[in-house]
Amino acid sequence: MDVITDIPSLRRRLGRERSVAFVPTMGGLHAGHLSLVRIARQQAECVVASVFVNRLQFLPGEDFDRYPRTLGEDCRLLQEQGADVVFTPDEAGIYPVRQEFMLQPPPVAEALEGRFRPGFFRGVATVVLKLFNIVQPRVAVFGKKDYQQLHLMCELVRQLNLPIEIVGGETVRAPDGLALSSRNRYLNNDERMEAARLHRTLLWIRREIEAGGCDLDTLQRRAEDELNAHGWKTDYVAICRGDTLAPAAVDDESIIILAAAWLGSTRLIDNLEASY
Ligand code: PAJ
Repeated sequence: MDVITDIPSLRRRLGRERSVAFVPTMGGLHAGHLSLVRIARQQAECVVASVFVNRLQFLPGEDFDRYPRTLGEDCRLLQEQGADVVFTPDEAGIYPVRQEFMLQPPPVAEALEGRFRPGFFRGVATVVLKLFNIVQPRVAVFGKKDYQQLHLMCELVRQLNLPIEIVGGETVRAPDGLALSSRNRYLNNDERMEAARLHRTLLWIRREIEAGGCDLDTLQRRAEDELNAHGWKTDYVAICRGDTLAPAAVDDESIIILAAAWLGSTRLIDNLEASY
């Protein structure tokens, strides 16, 4: 496995590859990221993962400075999974000049995560487009854990005619249901026990929907109340259409239940697919 930090060396290394599958990450790798590498392995001869904590997608006051940086361990895990190349640029490599050209995402980026993290998807879309231009993959793999991000990546390649296939990977969870996340390591022991309630709450909503129970607004409100009653500060619980992420109506076939909530100083997100 080659660990490459600069763009000219990466281009030289990838110049001889016919087909590249790409897994962009911000590091702090866990089994969720590694499952995407295994999917990538099935998609192309050459698997490239990137590790870059992208300042552009953090708001002032967010956790950019304390975001886990575990490059040595990340490289060990990636090698174990059979990645061929790890691209680990520094900030000056990706942003040699102030990034003034920015990608304006579609309106769906203003809802859900975008409502609570304004500018987040502008930062994500801009760095991903840059990484796509640098790596020039045939396939790129993203996790369903960040469902809205995956949706926007599909729109990015579609609306900008990028010759890249986006593949989605299932969310990898801890045995108690908590979706794996680099941010889980911020949780103390008590918070870690409590954190599984987020997934349980989504499961409860899905059962209610599938049983044809209450109306969707009531379900959302009851789920938020349940989390808040256990010490969470809920940003949103939303029941949306799987294809557009617009608010769901009762007869929509494919439904996605999404939530974001704070437990102490840690913000967790999760989602669950459902259908009537
Ligand atoms: P990061 O949070 O490191 O996630 C990298 C990829 O891993 C994303 O596609 C994410 O959806 C996926 N992932 C995270 N947790 C997962 C889990 N439990 N199961 C399955 N997949 C999981 O997402 C980003 O980085 C950044 O926004 C990035 C796209 C790299 C742009 O900076």
